[in-house]
Amino acid sequence: TCLAAARQAVLARAGWDVGAQGLIGAPRIAVIAGDEAHVTVHGALRLLGLGDACVVKVKTDGQGRVLSDALRDALRNAAGAPAIVCAQAGNVNTGSFDPLGEITRLAGAHGNAWVHVDGAFGLWAGASARFRHLLDGVSGADSWATDAHKWLNVPYDSGLAFVRDTAAHRAAMARTAAYLQRSSSERDNYEWTPEFSRRARGFTVYAALRSLGRAGLAALVERCCDHARLFAERLSAAPRVSVVNEVVLNQVLVRFERPGSSVEEADAWTREVISRVQRDGTCWLSGTVWRGRALMRISVCNWGDGSQAERDDDIAEHGPGPMQPVHDRLADLENCKCGETVAHPRHAWSPSGHRIATLEALRWECQMWFTSLVFEHDDDLDPRPGRCLRRRGRRLLRGHAAGAALRARHRH
Ligand SMILES: Cc1ncc(COP(=O)(O)O)c(C=O)c1O
Repeated sequence: TCLAAARQAVLARAGWDVGAQGLIGAPRIAVIAGDEAHVTVHGALRLLGLGDACVVKVKTDGQGRVLSDALRDALRNAAGAPAIVCAQAGNVNTGSFDPLGEITRLAGAHGNAWVHVDGAFGLWAGASARFRHLLDGVSGADSWATDAHKWLNVPYDSGLAFVRDTAAHRAAMARTAAYLQRSSSERDNYEWTPEFSRRARGFTVYAALRSLGRAGLAALVERCCDHARLFAERLSAAPRVSVVNEVVLNQVLVRFERPGSSVEEADAWTREVISRVQRDGTCWLSGTVWRGRALMRISVCNWGDGSQAERDDDIAEHGPGPMQPVHDRLADLENCKCGETVAHPRHAWSPSGHRIATLEALRWECQMWFTSLVFEHDDDLDPRPGRCLRRRGRRLLRGHAAGAALRARHRH
């Protein structure tokens, strides 16, 4: 949506109505994007008829941030042509932010450039006074895209588009038909999105924002970033484990090596650690390749605070019934033998919100288990989940029982 509005606006300024005339014969648009732009940006450009050949890739630094000098050169080469600059707030691997102030300043000097910011998860840094500085300059951009299904934890495909130029936005999307009832006072949503018929995606986004409030949203973002830092601190303190990115937000890239291993062996070992963690099922951490090296990619965006209070409240409110999957899971951990991988149902929760909350909280707890797991087996980093998971499981189970007993006493 944002890039369609961008195409509409820069071509209109060049005297071309893309809605009416299409792209054949249109002035050529230069799309300038960092070489770390997310693959979906390229997908969107293809859908808009701006194929890969339109894209000028600009060099980025070691964290994936666009280099200002390279951008300046690209804009100079595009002088006179309509241009769309695709910036990024939150690199999918490192979490890094492009220098948005510098980008909007340079693009402003071009004359006909639109700056779009892909802030799929990074835009949410703006909710926190501690992380807002990462977005310095973002207000100078023409459009922002972000996802509510990442940090807000609402269902998939809750994408949000923000476009400064409402006329360009509407011109890029609006169409009507005689049979449609148009509102004289309200905004007709089909005029602002690519879909004509769509479900009420906004409902869960609104509900999540209302229930969190400003302070709740800031706390969620900050908690996730703090947890990411904790991951980074603890993992990098373990022998032969390194965190290779600057942890500026909620992303952590981790490399695992064995003594004397070559680059290829370390790649293979890192993949092996990832696959063991995934097989274990305690939490799901993905792999990636960054600057040619295989890495574990930790992305923390869970809304649960994982506190004992959260779990106790759940038991107090619902009794042990809804907690059953959790108890089953803990029993699983209790019974597992040293060196055994625990198989458990990650998606065993019922549709009731509270049960999800409890299990999500448990999953966070599980993520922390992984960290202690690395500590406990730092001799050869052979993650044997059974041993430490069992101990933690017992402790958690005791916590649940104590909480429930306490609440029961209060009730009587
Ligand atoms: C920076 C960035 N842009 C775009 C996307 C794509 O988001 P979606 O899958 O919601 O389209 C992601 C997803 O991880 C992302 O991290």
